[in-house]
This record gives sequence, C-alpha cells and structure tokens, in this order.
Amino acid sequence: MKAPLVSKPGAASVSSMIRCANLCKKYGDVAALDGVNLHVRKGQTTVIMGGSGSGKTTLLRLIAGLEKPTSGEIEFAGEDFVHIPRKRLYELREMMGMVFQYSALLNSLNVYDNVAFPLHEHTDLDEDVIRTIVTMKLEQVGLRGMERLMPSELSGGMAKRVALARAIAMDPAIVFYDEPTSGLDPISAGVITTLIHDLSTKSHRTSVVVTHDVQAGLSIADHVVLLWQGRVIAEGGPEDIRHSEDERVRQFIEGRPDGPIPFSRSTTSYLDDLLSHPGTVRMRP
Ligand SMILES: Nc1ncnc2c1ncn2[C@@H]1O[C@H](COP(=O)(O)OP(=O)(O)OP(=O)(O)O)[C@@H](O)[C@H]1O
Ligand SMILES: [Mg+2]
Repeated sequence: MKAPLVSKPGAASVSSMIRCANLCKKYGDVAALDGVNLHVRKGQTTVIMGGSGSGKTTLLRLIAGLEKPTSGEIEFAGEDFVHIPRKRLYELREMMGMVFQYSALLNSLNVYDNVAFPLHEHTDLDEDVIRTIVTMKLEQVGLRGMERLMPSELSGGMAKRVALARAIAMDPAIVFYDEPTSGLDPISAGVITTLIHDLSTKSHRTSVVVTHDVQAGLSIADHVVLLWQGRVIAEGGPEDIRHSEDERVRQFIEGRPDGPIPFSRSTTSYLDDLLSHPGTVRMRP
C-alpha cells in the first residue's frame, strides 16, 4: 500500500515547505486540477507556469489555504493542510504573504494604510513601530515617500510594488505571487521581477510565483513546474525546462500558437454545438 504523504505534525524534512499529492479540484464538470504533485522547498523560488486556464491560480489558492481541494493531499510546514482546524489554518496563514493577480489594494486606503493593514489586523504593535516597519518595507520596494498617495494615483507598476510591500509586511516565511508582472510594460515588469528575486534571495524566503511570463519566470526560478490542463507536464530547474525536448514544453516556451497544446479546450464538435442551438443557425435546405 502507498505510504500516506501527510506525516505527523513536524515530521516533514526540514527542506520541505509544501508537498501536494494527487491534488484535484473540480468546479462543476471542469477539472481545474487533475492529479497534481508538487514540492515547494524551503528558501527556494518555485515558479508555476502554464497557459491561461491551465490551473495556476487554482493551485496557488489551494496551497495558500484559500480553498480546499476536491481530493488529494497538501502538507504545509509538516502539517496536514486539508483537514486542519480553522483556527490552526489562520495561524499558519500568518506565515504567508500574498500578491494577488490584480494587486488587490484597498482603494479607500492610502499607500501607508495598505501596507500597514496586515499589521493593524494581526498584531498589537504600537503605531510608532508599525510606522517604522512600513517605512522599511516601502524602502525595500523603492516607494518610501509615497505613503500619502491613494491607489488611484499609482501606476500599475507602483501598485504592484505596494502589493509586494504589503505582502512582506509581516515578514512571512513564504510569499505567493499570482501573475506579478501581468499588465505591466517591460521595464516595470523587469523591476518587479528583480524585486521578487531580491526579496526572496536576500531574506532566504520561500516564494511561489505563478506566471505566464516565460523569460521572467525562468530567470528567477530555482524550480519550475509547467501546468497544462490541470496537470504537471514538466518540472525541473530552469535549464531543464529551457532544453526540454517535450513538444508541449517547446511550444509554450517559444510561444508558438500551433503545436500539441490546442487553441481551444472544447471537447465537443463545433458543428454539434452550433446545431444544438437551432434558433441561431439556419441550415439551407
Ligand atoms: N471559481 C471558479 N468557478 C468555476 N470555474 C473556475 C473557478 N476558478 C477557476 N475555474 C476554472 O478552472 C480552470 C483553471 O482556472 P485558473 O484560474 O486556475 O487558470 P489560470 O492558469 O490561473 O489562468 P490565467 O492564466 O488566465 O489566470 C479554468 O477552466 C477556469 O475556468
Ligand atoms: Mg490565473
């Protein structure tokens, strides 16, 4: 019989932060994840890549404890993360920072209050201490002096940087980034990519970065996981991925529209679909 993945609390190897086994997530008939195994090592940057709809955000939300899988196992810092009591889940989530796909700043709060938000929510620190922490975090992302600006006054790149500062405000052991460079011009995207790399390596922090920006992803990754239709089709170091001979991997990293990865995920025939709506399609007699 296969040994269970989830061991007793604290029994995981020190180098392991997250382990997933046979992870499945269904939304109705859609299998967003279909048997994913994943290993996130402590202190490393794991980059999850894949095309739109391949299941990247879903995987991130499951390993960050924002959603439960339909089946499968997740171990976080040695603890069973699927059957965990809610109180303990919230405690573990304080070890995590999150940069969401669309920055998700609170529009009614200025930069200072956005970055201070987790500190106000989760600590009893004096405002003077919080001010010092916010200043340090804004300095790390190059935005010191911008405390009074409102989110509507920020460029896309600045908003991402505020989201980064907020994500590291509590000095989390792990930071999850969902598409941190999407919608940014190449220079701003480069700044964010370098920042993520610095924030991860200088503090030996574990990072999980979801992106479809192949070059950025490969440039900061210690380990790459490539998803396709909810499954892992390749993983390894950035060089393993760059030199992979798998046609699906080549198509993805070369950004070719034609190849084994189809343009449409539809499993039904186009003609059958059209004919199932007779009011909209008229066949000539
Ligand atoms: N809350 C939800 N309800 C229903 N279906 C969902 C939900 N979230 C995701 N899905 C479906 O699961 C699949 C994977 O979605 P997911 O958002 O994880 O992909 P992604 O790789 O992050 O895509 P993108 O690059 O566009 O952000 C898609 O088919 C999507 O439609
Ligand atoms: Mg996504």
